[in-house]
Amino acid sequence: MPISVLKDALSASVQAQLDSSLRMLVIHWNESETSYFPYVWLRDNDPAGFHPDTQERQFDLTTINLDDDICEFEIDQETIRLSWLEEAYTAEFRLAWLYENQPGKMAFDPVINDARLWRSELSGAEIPRSKATEILTQDSALLAWLRDTQAYGLSIVEGLADDVKAGTQVAKKVGFLRETNFGVEFEVKSKPKPNNLAYTSIALPLHTDLTNQELPPGYQFLHCLTNDAQGGGSIFCDGFAVAEDLRRADIVAFDLLVNTQIPCRFHDEDYDIRSRKAVINLDDQGQVNEICFNPHLASTLDISPELMQAYYRAYQTFMKMTKNPEYKISVMLTGGEMVVFDNRRVLHGRDAFDPQSGARYLHGCYVDRGEFESRLRVLSR
Ligand code: OGA
Ligand code: ZN
Repeated sequence: MPISVLKDALSASVQAQLDSSLRMLVIHWNESETSYFPYVWLRDNDPAGFHPDTQERQFDLTTINLDDDICEFEIDQETIRLSWLEEAYTAEFRLAWLYENQPGKMAFDPVINDARLWRSELSGAEIPRSKATEILTQDSALLAWLRDTQAYGLSIVEGLADDVKAGTQVAKKVGFLRETNFGVEFEVKSKPKPNNLAYTSIALPLHTDLTNQELPPGYQFLHCLTNDAQGGGSIFCDGFAVAEDLRRADIVAFDLLVNTQIPCRFHDEDYDIRSRKAVINLDDQGQVNEICFNPHLASTLDISPELMQAYYRAYQTFMKMTKNPEYKISVMLTGGEMVVFDNRRVLHGRDAFDPQSGARYLHGCYVDRGEFESRLRVLSR
C-alpha cells in the first residue's frame, strides 16, 4: 500500500505526496500539471552535492544505497525539504528549480530552436545578412546574427576590412578557432602543388568539409578578400532539407544513409586522417542533426558486397538531390563579404574560375558547434 502524505504548500496551490510504491515524490503544481521525481534522482541532484563556485557535481553516487526511501518531507512557499530513511539525510530544493527540471522533460535551452529549412527560394537576397562592425561592437547584434546563422545554417557578414585578419576577428567573437591539418586559418586560392581540391581553380560540387575527421568542424567562415576572376560563384544547399525530403520520398535510401558508416580519408605527405561516417545522422529524437557528405574524401567503400548495390543507389539518390536546382542557391561573393555556415548541415561548393582572368582569394577558419552554442547561451542569459 503506498503511503500518501498530502501537504499543501503555504501560498500556492502546490501539493506534494510521497508515492512509496513508485518510490517517487509526486508534485501537483496545479489542477492540470503533475510531475514525478524518483527518490534516487532527488538524492543525486541535491543542491548541496554541487560545488558552490564551480557548480560541478561533487556528490559520489557510489556512497549511497539506491534503494533508500524518502520517509518525510516538509513543503513551504518556495522550498521542499526531504529526509531519507536509512541514511538519515536531509536535502532542500527550491520548488521553482524542480518545476524547471522535471524528469522526462528537456530543460529549456536557448540553443534548441527549430532549424529553418530552406530550398532554392532562399536566393542571394534572402540570406540573412549582418554588418561586421555591429557584430564586433554590440552584443545584441552578435546574438541576433548567431540566432539567424543557427536557424538557417547560413549567413553573410558584410563590411569586413580588406585584411586577412578581418574574418577571423569576427569568428573569434563566437569562440576559439578549430585547428585542423590545414591550420588554424587557411587560404583558399589556386596554388601550385595543391593538397586539397579547394586550392585549385576547378569547380567544387556541393560537399561538407573534413568528413574524414573524427569530429568534422562546425561553423565555417569564408572571408572573400578578392573575387575578380571569371567564374568562382559560391553555391550552397541545406542538407537538412535534402535529408527530410529524402525521408519522405524514399525511406529505404534514407535509412541506409543513416545506418551505414562509410570510410572517409585524407592523406598527404604529413597526414593520414580517417574516420567512418554516416551521410545522415540523427539526434535521440530522430531529427536530422548532421550531414557528412564529401565524395572527394569518400574512401574505397568496404561495406558488405550484398549491401553495395542498394547503398550506391541511396548514395547516388542523395547526390542527385544535391545537384537538383530545387535545393541550390548561388551567391557571387565580393571583397569584404564573409559567408558563415554550419558545415555539419549546409553543403557548400563553387563554380570553376579562370585564374588567368583575375584573382580569387578567400580566407577561412572554423569554430565548432560547441563554442558557437555556448556563446549563444551566454548572450541569451
Ligand atoms: C573549401 C571550399 C569553396 C570556395 O575551401 O573547402 O569548399 O568557394 N571552398 O572556394
Ligand atoms: Zn569545402
